[in-house]
Amino acid sequence: MRFKRPQAVPDADGFVAVVPASAVIPGQLTPAAVQGRPLLLTRYEGKLLAFGRYCPHAAGDLRQGSLVRYKVVCPEHDYSFDMRTGRILWPEDEVYRLPCYEVKEEEGMVKVRVGKRGENN
Ligand code: FES
Repeated sequence: MRFKRPQAVPDADGFVAVVPASAVIPGQLTPAAVQGRPLLLTRYEGKLLAFGRYCPHAAGDLRQGSLVRYKVVCPEHDYSFDMRTGRILWPEDEVYRLPCYEVKEEEGMVKVRVGKRGENN
């Protein structure tokens, strides 16, 4: 018999607990998912960051990418994105944008808020 994993319930502000805060380490990418959306978590200069796991160019898995300060570089074609804003950094003439999500740390958990599709950048 298979049991379905219960859906995490958002708090009053719409944040959903995704992983223990101790699992998110500077310089590393921690995979998570909220409401069916795969995402990655990291810390940069003391701030928690949450963004989409798959590259908006051609769905490269950014978990296999590299981190250079605030940049995540896709392993497929080397496009790079600012993890803080989702803005593409290279190539400069492209318009792709990495979705970023509101994130906070509370009660030892990392919590992410995901709005309806299109509400995040
Ligand atoms: S799939 Fe990421 S740069 Fe092409």
